[in-house]
Amino acid sequence: MRVQRRVGPAQGRLGVLMPGLGAVATTAIAGVEAVRRGLARPVGSVTQMATIRLGKRRDGRAPLIRDFVPLAHLEDLVFGGWDIYEGGAWEAAVRSRVLEPAHLDAVRPALERIRPMTAAFDQRWVRRLSGPNVKKGTRRELAEALVDDIRTFRERERCDRLVMVWCGSTETYVEPGPAHATLRAFEEALDRDDETIAPSMLYAYAAIRSRVPFVNGAPNLTADAPALVEMAREFAVPLAGKDFKTGQTLMKTILAPGLKARMLGLRGWFSTNILGNRDGEVLDDPGSFKTKEVSKLSVLDTILQPETYPELYGDISHKVSIHYYPPRGDNKEGWDNVDIVGWLGYPMQIKVNFLCRDSILAAPLVLDLALLSDLAARAEMRGPQEWLSFYFKSPVHADGVAPEHDLFIQQTKLKNTLRWLRGEEPVTHLDE
Ligand SMILES: NC(=O)c1ccc[n+]([C@@H]2O[C@H](COP(=O)([O-])OP(=O)(O)OC[C@H]3O[C@@H](n4cnc5c(N)ncnc54)[C@H](O)[C@@H]3O)[C@@H](O)[C@H]2O)c1
Repeated sequence: MRVQRRVGPAQGRLGVLMPGLGAVATTAIAGVEAVRRGLARPVGSVTQMATIRLGKRRDGRAPLIRDFVPLAHLEDLVFGGWDIYEGGAWEAAVRSRVLEPAHLDAVRPALERIRPMTAAFDQRWVRRLSGPNVKKGTRRELAEALVDDIRTFRERERCDRLVMVWCGSTETYVEPGPAHATLRAFEEALDRDDETIAPSMLYAYAAIRSRVPFVNGAPNLTADAPALVEMAREFAVPLAGKDFKTGQTLMKTILAPGLKARMLGLRGWFSTNILGNRDGEVLDDPGSFKTKEVSKLSVLDTILQPETYPELYGDISHKVSIHYYPPRGDNKEGWDNVDIVGWLGYPMQIKVNFLCRDSILAAPLVLDLALLSDLAARAEMRGPQEWLSFYFKSPVHADGVAPEHDLFIQQTKLKNTLRWLRGEEPVTHLDE
């Protein structure tokens, strides 16, 4: 018998709130506006372009995902956000130099409308940036001010539902500490203005308190702290994160499962990048880079299972670096040298040279995650959403199990979750 999960309707306006109105956020907003006007196609968005097979192979049922599950329509999205700079979405989009003037001019009024709310910011967490559009107060006061911002935006824009997607800069590295251990400890830490609470945690806290799903596009600890996971479960709010899986790491999680599937060995993986946008400038600081490095390095181990295959993957040299190189702007270039081992231990090499566009790869992820986290909220799914691992370099995961990094297992989990929501059988590929 098919049992469909009860999912509330996607009626009315969905507000998408983004802390950080920089290159990624404005490329996502401008893109949605261009698609709404029929000027471009949402290439890279799985929710908009992918189909999902249902039933047996020969049944011929493969609707578009957006026709299969009730997602908000692009026409119903309303954007807003916070930034430490006052310029707004139009200025940030022009400054980021991601989209051509023809694309930007066509959506200029929509971008000009989006003015940043004053940010909760502390330069100790993002050392390379400082800006004027910043709230003053203790951490408790900042958190309450963000809750107010969310309420005001919801009322002013007549939103029926909201989601929050962190598109802010990468904060400096932090391990979970006592202030992040439980919700009670976190609340007390807010009251005593504890400096181990990062600004991004204030946004996550305000979102959860407002019952708004929270998605983390950067590698910061943020809502991955036990206190905020506990809070999300208590307030019945979905969490997703962290760190959008876009350029080099996307390629790594495509290639590594293939090598392992064929039992080809690996001796080393050397990855380097040049990047010239503001994100690259922020990542030039060792504290922010450490946060990114941990996220980028984590993927190979769980894909290759060195403890199960020590002969093939037990001794790998894995290096990652990012160099800030202004002439390239958002058009990142990544090089990978992969030293692999074949039959009888003979060495071979793979070279990957990916000339990508960082924000062009990240923008469709913002859209998909806004729509799918809103779906999760309407389906009353609470806490970390592992089925959204597909989109992240450091996926949130249940205690006591390893995160899943293999892109193809992640895709199966995503699609099977959607099938499960609608009472369809998972696809096993066993039918004749
Ligand atoms: N583009 C990609 O492929 C990709 C992939 C994975 C992760 N990311 C992450 O996404 C984030 C955004 O990237 P981007 O290229 O848009 O960077 P960006 O520098 O263009 O934009 C980030 C914006 O966040 C703002 N900001 C920083 N701290 C803030 C705070 N506390 N409150 C409000 N605003 C704040 C900055 O002023 C800036 O305008 C970065 O953390 C980046 O590492 C990007």
